[in-house]
Amino acid sequence: MNNFRFHVPTDVRFGKGQVNCLAEELKKFGKKVLLVYGGGSIKKSGLYDTILELLKDFEIFELSGIEPNPKITSVRKGVSICKEKGIDVILAVGGGSCIDASKNIACGTYYDGDPWDLVLDNSKVTRALPIAVVLTLSATGSEMNNGAVISNEATNEKLELGGECLYPALSICDPTYLYTLPAKQTAAGTADIISHVLEQYFQPNDGAYITDCFSESVIKTCVKYCPIALKEPDNYEARSNLMWASTVALNHMLTVGKGGSWSCHPIEHVLSAYYDITHGVGLAIVTPAWMRYILCDKTVGRFVKYAKGVWNIEDADPYVAANKAIDCTAQFFKDCGIPSTLKEVGIGTDKLEEMAKEAVRTSGLATRAYYPLEAEDVLKIFQMCAE
Ligand code: NZQ
Ligand code: ZN
Repeated sequence: MNNFRFHVPTDVRFGKGQVNCLAEELKKFGKKVLLVYGGGSIKKSGLYDTILELLKDFEIFELSGIEPNPKITSVRKGVSICKEKGIDVILAVGGGSCIDASKNIACGTYYDGDPWDLVLDNSKVTRALPIAVVLTLSATGSEMNNGAVISNEATNEKLELGGECLYPALSICDPTYLYTLPAKQTAAGTADIISHVLEQYFQPNDGAYITDCFSESVIKTCVKYCPIALKEPDNYEARSNLMWASTVALNHMLTVGKGGSWSCHPIEHVLSAYYDITHGVGLAIVTPAWMRYILCDKTVGRFVKYAKGVWNIEDADPYVAANKAIDCTAQFFKDCGIPSTLKEVGIGTDKLEEMAKEAVRTSGLATRAYYPLEAEDVLKIFQMCAE
């Protein structure tokens, strides 16, 4: 097992009614709150009214309309409000997009320049406003990590922002807020959780047995509960298990003792940067093709472990076991109603080469990935999932 430091300073309040602590907790930071939310789901669900009522003694400023795959233009608007109004704390209410935009706004407020500079050069992220979260979508893990992903529509880039000061100070995770999620978001969110686990599981270090066991449990939790949540959107047991799965999948728990660069995420990020598709859908399309592409003598042992640990598949021939596990992965995403080809999400073949180059340029794919990939490899993976 590799050496590691594990320090996650987020105060997570999990379960029904936890939002009631909001005023008490936020007042530790001050009175002026920037409320960041998306296109209106929190108004429809009534959460917006609940929050305004709870925070009636605060001075609330709002930034609404954060788009899925949040854009730097929204971040810039948020930074202006924070600077002009002297905001004390940012409250993100929504999924990963609202949280990620809030993280960029939080550090952009203390930066004397364009917040996009911070995305291009994470070493400039040194100080940030405190961030509190009320989570409404289980997927990204952004509620308990220090990363964000921001898109620049002018350059077609979708890049990662990170920094020690970007952990949310407080995250309220109430599974009942997931009841209103459309099936598509439940399924895509689950594909995202599974992909986070796989990115950390498929790494060279075999000595972190405990981390591998946790990882397999998180995927099994998704496989068990996503179909239930799709059938019964207000099943508390299913929603609460999925919600905690999303948090632990990307709060560093599953990377300790391992490490290394990710693979499917940089490949997907170019798809959502160019075509604005849903992140989890892109991952569900790319992942089985990536698995088939990298299966070889060097990787088959880990696939055999995955087959046994997650899908309970064993076979005397390791390639048979590996391929069956890959088939199960693809079938699970299909059964959740997620498209399985680029064509189905409106992505043609004209930009595949350009996107493949961009995926390699903007990540450690060619140098530090579990199975290093050059642009021509990424292109072949794209072609495998074209139609
Ligand atoms: O905008 P509103 O109206 O709120 O609707 C949202 C949005 O349309 C809707 N939604 C959210 N909660 C809902 C709901 N609808 C009904 N009921 C609810 N309870 O769902 C849609 C998608 O929301 P979004 O926040 O975009 O989804 P998600 O949480 O999947 O976040 C995706 C973004 O996070 C990035 C992705 O790349 C993408 O940009 N990621 C962030 C990571 C991180 N910070 O660690 C890691 C991930 O790998 C990922 O890259
Ligand atoms: Zn993801």
